[in-house]
Amino acid sequence: MIRFSVADEIFDRPSFWVKEGKIELIDQRRLPLEVEIISAGTLEEQIHCIKTLGIRGAPAIGSFAAFSLSLALDRGEDLEKTYNALLNSRPTAVDLRNCLDEVKLAFMDGGKDQASKTAFNIYGRIMEACRMIGENGAQIIPDSAKILTHCNAGALATMDWGTALSPIRVKKRDGGNPFVWVSETRPLLQGARLTAWELLQEGIDHRIIVDSASGYLMRKGEVDLVITGADRVCANGDLANKIGTYEKAVIAHDLGIPFYVAFPKTTIDLKCPDGDQIPIEERDPSEIEELRDSRISPHGSTAFNPAFDVTPAELVTSYITEDGVFSRTEFLKMYIKKAPL
Ligand code: MRU
Repeated sequence: MIRFSVADEIFDRPSFWVKEGKIELIDQRRLPLEVEIISAGTLEEQIHCIKTLGIRGAPAIGSFAAFSLSLALDRGEDLEKTYNALLNSRPTAVDLRNCLDEVKLAFMDGGKDQASKTAFNIYGRIMEACRMIGENGAQIIPDSAKILTHCNAGALATMDWGTALSPIRVKKRDGGNPFVWVSETRPLLQGARLTAWELLQEGIDHRIIVDSASGYLMRKGEVDLVITGADRVCANGDLANKIGTYEKAVIAHDLGIPFYVAFPKTTIDLKCPDGDQIPIEERDPSEIEELRDSRISPHGSTAFNPAFDVTPAELVTSYITEDGVFSRTEFLKMYIKKAPL
């Protein structure tokens, strides 16, 4: 759960939940300075939340969309239209398609009750998977490790526990003393705003750095390992994650620093042969040209805003899932059922 206080009252909440046919969520656009719980009742409101990052992070988007589809089906809305509208809300995180497919199949098989049961099942399953990612990943984190992470792959991005942050939380719970370098994650600052906020709530020691400081710190010996989440892991082990992940992986590889990627099975795309085939979301240039609604670049200069990049499997030391910690060969054997490379 995410622990936070509002007006001296302590709350323990997942990033979103279903209440009386609506989805309630911690609004991630407003964190950390305002902690606001909002309610999204219509399909349009829910899609708006996904597109504008009120809810974000691959597993959370998938589970949120699963509920969104099942609630729409409950209201008698059209399956294909709703499915496609949700599927097109964000292109890179494959959890969205995987979770929507599961609810769609359940509906075709057993109607709206089956669809609803499936959405709740996905929600519980991802939470449990993330808890297990923590238990498994904590085994490979030294007690006082200095860890670099990027973007937010915490409980906000997964309902509870997180992916990259889950092993760190478990390590802390078990008496370790992990330290986290939080890369700020331009342009929407998921690191500086969300990861820092979560680590603060958990009492985990951390410092925020600008994205471009990670090479400097790695070279100075200030980083023992890098751990990130993923938005899509392909059938050859390549993965997409927040823009800037690739360069951290390259530097870590060059300096012999382990680079770990943590994700639940909903993030695996068996249909995607390699990273070149992953659709990369391009977001509005204004996210770069403006900072909190104030223009920062010259009128007349334009920006290019890819939201994700691809890290080739060769740069990944291990894959951490709910089933364990795997080398690339083990990962492919476990999930892809191909001959080891
Ligand atoms: O654009 P965002 O904030 O949805 O991007 C999120 C990430 O890149 C996360 O690292 C990824 O989804 C894994 S979340 C457990």
